[in-house]
Amino acid sequence: MFRNDLLKSKRVLVTGGGTGIGLSIGRRLLSLGAELMICGRREEVLAATAKSLADETGGKVFYKPCDIRDAAQVDTLLDWAFADGPLDILVNNAAGNFISRSEDLSPRAVDAVLNIVLHGTSYVTLGCGRRWLAAGHKANVLSIITTYAWTGSAYVVPSAMAKAGVLALTRSLAVEWGGRGIRLNAIAPGPFPTAGAWERLVPKPELAQAFIDQNPLQRAGDHAELANLAAFMVADENGYMNGECVTLDGGEWLAGAGQFNFIGALMSDDDWNALKPKKK
Ligand code: HXC
Repeated sequence: MFRNDLLKSKRVLVTGGGTGIGLSIGRRLLSLGAELMICGRREEVLAATAKSLADETGGKVFYKPCDIRDAAQVDTLLDWAFADGPLDILVNNAAGNFISRSEDLSPRAVDAVLNIVLHGTSYVTLGCGRRWLAAGHKANVLSIITTYAWTGSAYVVPSAMAKAGVLALTRSLAVEWGGRGIRLNAIAPGPFPTAGAWERLVPKPELAQAFIDQNPLQRAGDHAELANLAAFMVADENGYMNGECVTLDGGEWLAGAGQFNFIGALMSDDDWNALKPKKK
């Protein structure tokens, strides 16, 4: 789909890059010539991912443990990431989420999600931005959000609040920093199954099937599709896109939104035919 050198020598940091969607995006950017840095909370997971990606692609992969909820750890991470030259691309992928009835959420449960998604993403983005602006370096940020950032969603309220905040961060900084060479964009994925997200969000097989049944394309997303979109969005060849959020969900959120969408399942051929104007 792309030239193999699309991202040649671009220095990329993917937060939460050891597993899941972050791993899939990192793998794709690496295959297009990027130098990949990944961070996450678990060193052994990062080390195993870095080794297998380097073996698989022959590319350069570096890792550093970091809990992005901790601003001091983020500062240390970014000093490390910028030590041999500025980053070119930040992918805000790290997230935390689980389903719960909202009345059951404790303050610590709310904070656990907001601290990772909203605060952590802000620390990393602002820390990179400060360094880029000081160096006069052109760069871009891609944040992975979700479609319920603008619709809201029952049972994942802290996540919806936090992802809405990341969308606001993206659009705000796109304007504030765009003139100084920093683009910020987002992807809103629909269901892209991963072990981490699915064990927290899809605890029963019936729910997994329902995600498929309610999707106009009748399937979940393929990680390669998401990774290709990410590569396109961060490439310099896409340099005029700024402050945008691209939805990649098979039409899932629109299927839940259109007022008449549900009637297809309740209307028979006879019902439709009875509505046709009579031939004169
Ligand atoms: C209710 C819960 C809970 C649950 C945790 N808590 N899980 N409450 N239901 N299922 C509460 C705990 O009881 C505790 O509060 C507080 O949250 C903190 O929990 P810890 O386990 O101590 O926190 P921590 O170890 O920091 O874990 C953070 C986490 C966890 C967010 C809770 O799930 C995590 O680490 N997730 C990272 C990976 C992840 O979530 N991936 C999915 C991202 S998917 P009390 O009061 O009891 O002390 C995504 C978008 C998906 O973001 C879109 C899909 C379509």
